[in-house]
Amino acid sequence: MTELRSQDWYGGEGRDGYIHRAWMRRGLPEDAFDGKRPQIAIANTASDLTPCNMHLDEVMESVKLGVAEAGGIALDLPVVSLGETLVRPTAMLWRNMAAMAMEEMFRANPIDGLVLLGGCDKTIPALLMAAASVGIPAVVVPGGPMMNGMFRGKRMGCGTGVWQLSEEVRAGTLSQEAFLASDRSMIRSKGHCNTMGTASTMAIMAEALGMTIPGLAGTPAPDARLLEASQATGRLAVELVREGRTIADVITKESFHNAIVALAVCGGSTNAVVHLMAIAGRLGIELTLEDFDRIGAEVPLLVNLQPSGSYLMEDLYNAGGVLAVLAQVRDLLDPTPITVTGRPLVDYLDDRDVWNDEVIAPREEPLIAGAGIAVLRGNLAPNGAIIKPSAASAHLLQHRGKAVVFDSIEDFHARVDDPDLDVTPDSVLILRGCGPMGYPGMPEVANLPLPQKILQQGVRDMVRISDGRMSGTAYGTVVLHVAPEAAAGGTLALVQDGDEIVLDVPNRTIELDVPADELARRTPSPALVAGYASATRGWERLYIEHVQGADTGADLDFLVGASGSEVTRESH
Ligand code: FES
Repeated sequence: MTELRSQDWYGGEGRDGYIHRAWMRRGLPEDAFDGKRPQIAIANTASDLTPCNMHLDEVMESVKLGVAEAGGIALDLPVVSLGETLVRPTAMLWRNMAAMAMEEMFRANPIDGLVLLGGCDKTIPALLMAAASVGIPAVVVPGGPMMNGMFRGKRMGCGTGVWQLSEEVRAGTLSQEAFLASDRSMIRSKGHCNTMGTASTMAIMAEALGMTIPGLAGTPAPDARLLEASQATGRLAVELVREGRTIADVITKESFHNAIVALAVCGGSTNAVVHLMAIAGRLGIELTLEDFDRIGAEVPLLVNLQPSGSYLMEDLYNAGGVLAVLAQVRDLLDPTPITVTGRPLVDYLDDRDVWNDEVIAPREEPLIAGAGIAVLRGNLAPNGAIIKPSAASAHLLQHRGKAVVFDSIEDFHARVDDPDLDVTPDSVLILRGCGPMGYPGMPEVANLPLPQKILQQGVRDMVRISDGRMSGTAYGTVVLHVAPEAAAGGTLALVQDGDEIVLDVPNRTIELDVPADELARRTPSPALVAGYASATRGWERLYIEHVQGADTGADLDFLVGASGSEVTRESH
């Protein structure tokens, strides 16, 4: 073991070492600062206002046991937490802020290694972005999904159930009372959303990148095996420091290959695209939208989970879990990248049986043959846009329709159910002003509810296009992350009601069928400036001045890359 980073604070007999030791001693053992016991910070996103992560204090206690067993010193480090359902105007606005605050606290403190406790959507991405920019040894414990929701005898996935049932109310096929009564059936325990939403996806991404103990992602939050694995992770964190294995040793370009395969085979959230690209940017790894399409295109969808399928995360765990899924596509994985244990991910795929092939389909009978996220380009999205074909309607993947344009989500809500709205099932709903800069913060609003008069015709899906994101628990034929976004001067800002849009997912194109000279004469709608212009101070101001496009991960320009772990100046 090389000299511990923390010895820069605790070592020596001078006044500074004295101060650092004296204030920290508080009952720690005599040898706590002798340079042989790694200081392991547990970056903990537990918060009462992040209900999906509330239980992480309990998880932390198990991690602490493991750290102590292995001879380390465990330190609780509460960090910024983001509750997806509560935080306004959108948790994505704060992902980079959380990552920046975490990064600076990881750098500023006498820490040798990190255990990253996350769960709710933005927490694992922010933790990984921060740890990547600092570069000290780190390992993730995903907090795990909640138990299955059950409503009227059927599985009710959180998020997905809300979208489905609220549409039934609007269509007049479910009473308001029954809808309101369903919330207790949906959320039954601690843990994050139990669908293949963003939280589940990012836990799986962390595992596919090699950043968890293999087999841990997807362990339900109430399951005793989560605490068992958390204790083992505490021991592993100490080992990581002693062996000098850093996050850059674990996450390589090849690890992203495995993450993209895992994303496709599981039918994971489209949000993984912006998060993986942001993490790659912190590590100086070039990851492009085309990598997602190229690597994911031929990967079969095997996991039958809501929002696109039927089951929930607890079912996936009981069917064999993430490793059983990855074992089915072992030949598509890159065998070289190591995990935090020092061994390659593929080493953990032997004898991984599937116990329920309704939940994990056999390779030879996939739910969809090519399940990856498709990347579209054309005059409407020169820098790219994405769609998740596995969550879309097959008959809409090649479609021509007239645009019905909304300049903001407020504009949409004000007009969507107007009986005079000129919309048909073939129309293409356009929502703009929802990109990283435009909203600001790129909210999950792109899965627009359908107009009531369309729902009443029995139609449940239409083509929708936006520069915003879609909840990982949502579904539908939705083109997302259009770049450049409207507020940054993208063609999306020039679309007018009645323009024809041509979507061709098999050929990966999205076009606005308006002559170039006509587009050159148009100016963006003035209503688009509103959300952007209101960001006059604080983080929002900093964010809009520096945020980059969705096509590169929507990180701030000055946060891409790494600061490293060295801070030489002393505070006193
Ligand atoms: Fe926290 Fe879904 S709201 S994971």
